[in-house]
Amino acid sequence: MLRLLYASQSALTVNEDSVRNILQTSRQNNALHGITGVLVFGGGVFMQVLEGPERNVLRTYLKITEDARHSDCRLIHITPTEERLFDQWTMGIIDSDPLEFQHISELRSCRTESVPGDAFRKVMQLFLARLNKR
Ligand SMILES: Cc1cc2nc3c(=O)[nH]c(=O)nc-3n(C[C@H](O)[C@H](O)[C@H](O)COP(=O)(O)O)c2cc1C
Repeated sequence: MLRLLYASQSALTVNEDSVRNILQTSRQNNALHGITGVLVFGGGVFMQVLEGPERNVLRTYLKITEDARHSDCRLIHITPTEERLFDQWTMGIIDSDPLEFQHISELRSCRTESVPGDAFRKVMQLFLARLNKR
């Protein structure tokens, strides 16, 4: 299995309806492809974790990078893995508040190869904590 995390800039036209549409498509497609993960949206930024079979994750990621509803996709972290961090959600959404986005912006400004494992873990823990509260 593969897990990846990317962040992108949402298009100016993106609103709650667009996010709902994205989630609906994602839930359907990802369930078919054995992909789980989480999508975060807020402050003009999307951040998403995709995990599942390597080919399916890469294919889905490529498709996502071509979507006009966002731009400047940056791969923040990618790793082979045996465990799912988000096995209970096909795709969850956290409407993050601006303070929490500070972490995300910081990660985003790092280059892929220089993101410390700790920073990634911190963001993942934050996601999980938020989701578990729901
Ligand atoms: C921020 C963002 C995240 C997305 N995440 C997913 C996803 O996890 N899975 C997915 O299938 N499509 C996702 N999409 C939508 C894809 O870009 C694409 O529109 C969709 O997969 C097309 O589905 P279809 O081939 O069934 O029409 C996302 C789009 C955006 C903008």
